[in-house]
Amino acid sequence: MNVLLIGAGGREHALAWALSASPLLTKLFCAPGNPGIAEVAQCIPIDPADHDVIITFCRDERIELVVIGPEAPLVAGLGDALGEAGIKYFGPTRAAAQLEGSKGFTKDLCRTANIPTAAYGRFMDPEAAKTYLASQGLPIVVKADGLAAGKGVIIATTREEAEAAVEACLSGVFGTAGNEIVIEEFLEGEEASFFALCDGVTALPLASAQDHKRAGDGDTGPNTGGMGAYSPAPIVTPEMADRVMREIIIPTVKAMAARGMPFKGVLFAGLMISASGPKLIEFNVRFGDPETQVLMMRLKSDLLAALLATVDGVLSNFDLRWSDDAALTVVMAANGYPGKPMKGTEIKGLDAARATPDVEIFHAGTRRDGERLVADGGRVLDVTGRGRNVAEARAAAYAAIAKIDWPGGFYRNDIGWRALQRSKA
Ligand code: AMP
Ligand code: GLY
Repeated sequence: MNVLLIGAGGREHALAWALSASPLLTKLFCAPGNPGIAEVAQCIPIDPADHDVIITFCRDERIELVVIGPEAPLVAGLGDALGEAGIKYFGPTRAAAQLEGSKGFTKDLCRTANIPTAAYGRFMDPEAAKTYLASQGLPIVVKADGLAAGKGVIIATTREEAEAAVEACLSGVFGTAGNEIVIEEFLEGEEASFFALCDGVTALPLASAQDHKRAGDGDTGPNTGGMGAYSPAPIVTPEMADRVMREIIIPTVKAMAARGMPFKGVLFAGLMISASGPKLIEFNVRFGDPETQVLMMRLKSDLLAALLATVDGVLSNFDLRWSDDAALTVVMAANGYPGKPMKGTEIKGLDAARATPDVEIFHAGTRRDGERLVADGGRVLDVTGRGRNVAEARAAAYAAIAKIDWPGGFYRNDIGWRALQRSKA
């Protein structure tokens, strides 16, 4: 079958790489794609925001499945438009994508369905928000309700900071995403990423993963989209995964179905594993980036078959097999990230770096400039290693990085440190 993948990042390169290995695949297209994706798919310069052009392309090329990678087209209703045109797509409808598109929506759903999460309030009026703040402890978390490209979360350690965050959000610093805010309790614990395919009724968990959100070694510096990831994540024991399914994922799938907006696609729970158990920090309605890069390295089942089973509502008959190997990815980011990244610097040495079977390099933000490969984004490369355990996977990833000649970029030196510390304990 012909498949169209939507997106242009490292997550989409990893998905394209896995899809391209499917015996069910005839031809893979990607809109808009990137130079790494171009090695396994035909990239087409279409803007995913242009629903009519996407639909016309699907008809012309007899696309039988559209896989939507990023959240923005999902929240903008690309799935609904495809569905109305009779084209199959992997991902939630716009209504179901509110689980990521509105933090307030998700918090209310958690309250109704009794899903463990931080205590919270929703506000549109700064004075009401400040009155609530006065009744709460510190630190406290202020969040823009809508999509803010990962920037709309402020962890305030003083009352003044919290009030400034309220003012900033509600006065439009995050655009319309901040018209409404959520103020919530600060959760203590260790974060983990949990993914489940959902077909509206049944949920099938993926292997565990953990990412590193901060830009600097030792989990210091500003928050980012993720500077590295590994799988499996030792903190998500089989017992913990069962609890997450029972206490968070399954109640959400049921609550969404009961509201007439069944969730189909991949549900990504950002978790805080606290002393009292797993708590939901937030939902995303798409695969994680860079978690997908390590998950695809470990997935033994056919990804395309799994996505089709999700879309067709037959996940209850489906099973996923994972390699016993571990995988670890290190993000190489352009200098300046997560602020304004420097673009256009040349990257060399990738062929040598990926010459071993235990390494894959996924492109996240690159561009061809004639013969040269140059940086074209914040997160630029995901250098991914595989091994019998996290330590070996990490050694493979860093050995590959040592062969990459890119003075314009930086990376963290300690990806996987929590897993390694646990395995030594
Ligand atoms: P979010 O975009 O909601 O995932 O938030 C981004 C990051 O902020 C999370 O990955 C956490 O590190 C942190 N964070 C968000 N909400 C909380 C909370 N209630 N308690 C502690 N940390 C949080
Ligand atoms: N790595 C976290 C995310 O994809 O949002």
